[in-house]
Amino acid sequence: MNNTGLFISFEGIDGAGKSTHISRLADAFQAGGRAVTVTREPGGTELAEKLRCLVLDDAMDPLTESLLIFAARRDHLLRVIAPALLRGDVVLCDRFTDATFAYQGAGRGFDLQVLATLERWVQSGEGLLGDPTGNQPMRPGIETVIEPHLTVWFDLPPEEAARRLAASRLPDRFESQPLAFFQRVTQGYAERQRSHAERFVRINAAQSREAVWRDALWVFVEKGWLPAAALA
Ligand code: TYD
Repeated sequence: MNNTGLFISFEGIDGAGKSTHISRLADAFQAGGRAVTVTREPGGTELAEKLRCLVLDDAMDPLTESLLIFAARRDHLLRVIAPALLRGDVVLCDRFTDATFAYQGAGRGFDLQVLATLERWVQSGEGLLGDPTGNQPMRPGIETVIEPHLTVWFDLPPEEAARRLAASRLPDRFESQPLAFFQRVTQGYAERQRSHAERFVRINAAQSREAVWRDALWVFVEKGWLPAAALA
């Protein structure tokens, strides 16, 4: 098992149940001696958490929403994600840019080209962000674009997600969207999987929690990032 930084993001519509699996994966990596940074988007820094509150609670148009989300992402990358990867941590991030393409792009219908431009601006820097694979030392002056090494998509039919959410907490601006919104978001994730097949893994989240957990774990064992003993 190597000790270069690993950037892993977790995606899915609201109610897909990523959170418990993220904390179990953090435990599994720590048990293998890896330093782990668990974080989330929008959020992960003091500033980004403030922006998260605005995005989840205040009405705004899709461009404003996208700009706030990418502003939060920039701060998060510079202050938390890039330094953690340079230290060699495993970074487990609850949502990243694929969520913006799925929610703001496919869900809200916002311009995908604009999102792609923002993605490039926000996720690159003159050596600021280091080598995204963690294999090269930082080379100041060289532009790097940072992306997850792996994205785990917990795919749950929107009807089932709505049933699960109805039984839980007070919905925020996204959770209160109609079924058709989450159908578009799901299509958005499927599209991202097609265009980023090399890093995207889909997990069927319409199973028992234990079955989903075993499927998730298997992805990491197969890559050699967790020992096979973790499956026992
Ligand atoms: P989520 O991460 O599911 O947190 P919680 O489980 O605490 O509700 O919620 C964040 C919400 O933000 C979710 O509804 C999706 C939305 N979101 C976007 O619309 N675009 C984005 O780029 C990101 C990261 C999240």
